[in-house]
Amino acid sequence: MPADHLRILGIPGSLRRQSYNRGLLEAAREVAPDGMAIEIADLRPIPFYDGDVDAEGEPASVRAFKAQIAGVDALLIATPEYNHLLSGVLKNAIDWASRPAGKSVLRHKPAAIMGASGGTSGTARAQLALRQVLTSTECYVLPSPQVLVPNARDRFDAEGRLTDERVREHIRALLDALREWVERFRAR
Ligand SMILES: Cc1cc2nc3c(=O)[nH]c(=O)nc-3n(C[C@H](O)[C@H](O)[C@H](O)COP(=O)(O)O)c2cc1C
Repeated sequence: MPADHLRILGIPGSLRRQSYNRGLLEAAREVAPDGMAIEIADLRPIPFYDGDVDAEGEPASVRAFKAQIAGVDALLIATPEYNHLLSGVLKNAIDWASRPAGKSVLRHKPAAIMGASGGTSGTARAQLALRQVLTSTECYVLPSPQVLVPNARDRFDAEGRLTDERVREHIRALLDALREWVERFRAR
């Protein structure tokens, strides 16, 4: 694999089959620049965080998720907004990945975030909360551009495919910025 090739793990914060947020990640795959490969994680097999289970040895699904994170150059998280916050599913996956504290696979991992919601805020509140959560893990979260997708039902077709060209352009700009962001840390 060429040294400038970038591997990205897309993390959808929704389990819904036709999730708009999964749709954002599929669109990211389609508009990704040459030399960037995006795989998409499946959070469905990850159980609720339990410190006892963690102490006894993490479940295989968690081990696999952590290995996916460890094996990529950056994360691209697509968060829904549930009651003005990120989803429990996403927070739970981050909680597992954040252990052991201070030396987890999330530490110093570059990340970008985006989100689509049915409401008018376009996940602004969820993204703010997600940034706060990721700060705790010492992830390096890209500050801008922000990709906020409000009124999602008008921008996706019945199969959950993104149809809004402007949003596709915003995602492409986010990926370009993420590439530069990763290169900053590689240069160190
Ligand atoms: C429990 C719950 C809470 C929600 N709260 C919000 C909210 O606070 N703001 C918002 O814009 N949409 C809210 N919605 C609507 C979601 O934006 C919508 O269901 C969206 O499709 C979820 O993302 P997904 O398509 O990736 O599953 C909520 C949906 C659910 C199920």
